[in-house]
Amino acid sequence: LAVIELDISKVTPGQCLSVKWRGKPLFVKYRTQSDIALEDQTPLSSLKDPETPEQRTIKPQWLVVIGICTHLGCVPVPNSGDWAGGFYCPCHGSHFDNVGRARKGPAPTNLVVPPYKFLTDTLLLVG
Ligand code: FES
Repeated sequence: LAVIELDISKVTPGQCLSVKWRGKPLFVKYRTQSDIALEDQTPLSSLKDPETPEQRTIKPQWLVVIGICTHLGCVPVPNSGDWAGGFYCPCHGSHFDNVGRARKGPAPTNLVVPPYKFLTDTLLLVG
C-alpha cells in the first residue's frame, strides 16, 4: 500500500512498532522523556549528518523512520546499540541514536524519515 494508517494507541513508551510500508520495514518509536532529553543535549557538531530532533519529528515523542540501514541496506535492531533507545545494525556495526541519526560505524547518513502526518493523537498516516 502506498499510504497506510497506523493506530499507535497501544504503543508504550520506549516501544518500537515495526510494520511494512511499500515493501520496506517502517519503525515507529515511542521516545521516552529521557530519550528526548538525551538527544536535546547532543551538539550538532558531533553528528556526521547534522539534523536536530525537531527536524526529524513532528511530535518529539514519536520517531517515524524507514528501518533500512543507510550503509548497505540491512534492517537495524530497535532499542539496541551504544545509544540509549537507539538502533543497531549488526551487518557492519552502525549505531543510530533514538532519533535515528547515524552516530558510529559505516552508515553515512541518518535513517530516512518518510512523509507522514498525525490524523489524530493516536492515528498516523504514512505515505
Ligand atoms: Fe548496516 Fe552495513 S548495512 S552497517
